[in-house]
Amino acid sequence: MKIGKITLLLATALAGAGVARAASLQQVSNFGDNPTGVQMFIYVPDTLAASPPIIVAMHYCTGTAQAYYQGTQYANLANSMGFIVIYPDAPDSGGCWDVHSTETLTHDAGGDSLGIASMVRYAIDTYGADPARVFATGTSSGAMMTNVLIGAYPDLFAAGAAFSGVPYGCFAGPSLWNSQCAQGQLIKSAQEWGDQARSGYADFSGTRPKMQVWHGSADTTLYPQNFYEEIKQWTNVLGYEESAGTNTTSDPLPGYTRATYGTDFEAIFAQGVGHTVPEQANDVLRFFGLS
Ligand SMILES: *[C@@H]1O[C@H](CO)[C@@H](O)[C@H](O)[C@H]1NC(C)=O
Repeated sequence: MKIGKITLLLATALAGAGVARAASLQQVSNFGDNPTGVQMFIYVPDTLAASPPIIVAMHYCTGTAQAYYQGTQYANLANSMGFIVIYPDAPDSGGCWDVHSTETLTHDAGGDSLGIASMVRYAIDTYGADPARVFATGTSSGAMMTNVLIGAYPDLFAAGAAFSGVPYGCFAGPSLWNSQCAQGQLIKSAQEWGDQARSGYADFSGTRPKMQVWHGSADTTLYPQNFYEEIKQWTNVLGYEESAGTNTTSDPLPGYTRATYGTDFEAIFAQGVGHTVPEQANDVLRFFGLS
């Protein structure tokens, strides 16, 4: 009785102080085609921008939507900037994304990528979101899925930012994990990587999404060679020479070097950083054109 009263008094005091009613992470059950059972979580801030942008933020292996919601700054930034954040949750028991199956690597063919594409289409319809400002980002397995989505769904996304991932198609094959790729032993030419990414949606002829990739020099889970393979792939897709980057040191942090290729591709190498490079949400939002 006593405790109940105190709780009630506290609640009244908080309400009286005009504490803002913050939005929270919500699960959505029916959002469209979802053959592998990816779970959809969404953060819709109390104050939405008109025709709001959408950011799809994808967790690492062993991660969850909830963990990525809490461990990154996107929801906080959504409160002030009014965009929507979708946090997909992987169906695999180990929490990794399917970035290997032919279905997931192919436009509207199935796999985890189709479930995520359905979430985007659902959120555009439900919230009147801006279809020209949909973005993907993720860490590790979520960075691999970012590469997959930019290859297989270039019609849905305007840009991607991948923290410590591998190129689109690098894990292609029968199993969820690909040691050859992970250890940086899957080497292809820029043309081969570009062709592979374009094969994700062979009929696509629109503008390609912009891409930003980040990697640490001391990564022993997804070896740094994958950074150079990603550079080959996306410079080829976006029409840049592989060597055409302008390098800026200590950008955005000491030890980081940013290679800028025109407006559409950036590759940031973090000296001494292992797996994974911490998300730099403000830098990502700037690259996405949201700040
Ligand atoms: C610029 O950065 C890219 C990507 O890290 C690297 O491959 C290249 O060697 C660098 N160029 C110079 C001149 O350091």
